[in-house]
Amino acid sequence: MKLLRYVLLLLITSSASAEPFQNADASAGKTLVNQHCISCHAASFGGDGSGIYTRELRKVKNAQALAAQVRNCNTMLGLKWFEDEELNVAKYLNQQYYQYTE
Ligand code: HEC
Repeated sequence: MKLLRYVLLLLITSSASAEPFQNADASAGKTLVNQHCISCHAASFGGDGSGIYTRELRKVKNAQALAAQVRNCNTMLGLKWFEDEELNVAKYLNQQYYQYTE
């Protein structure tokens, strides 16, 4: 099952260090976020839209949930990102805003 493999992969990579998306490329993720994700968040949260990640009642509570949320958005928006692109975006958002270690 694809999802299960994905979760296992995340668990393996996250147990190795405090960086849960070790092999991902945050700067590539940043480019993707800037292209596809900011305008809509900014429209509802103002500014650069990053308030959506830092609001008190934010939905994402750990690295795994972050990866899952990125995947949901990818699917919902029909962006057809590959798994490595999702992880690049998750890494960028984690480094920039969430700072989860697992
Ligand atoms: C069409 C509008 C729209 C677009 C485009 C969009 N989002 Fe979102 N996003 C939302 C809304 C609305 C929420 C809040 C959902 C909620 O509160 O239940 C959200 C929430 C999130 C969250 C969770 C924030 C939290 O509470 O911790 C993340 C992470 C996120 N989006 C990532 C992305 C990424 C990555 C992309 C680009 C692929 C993206 N979004 C594109 C509308 C959008």
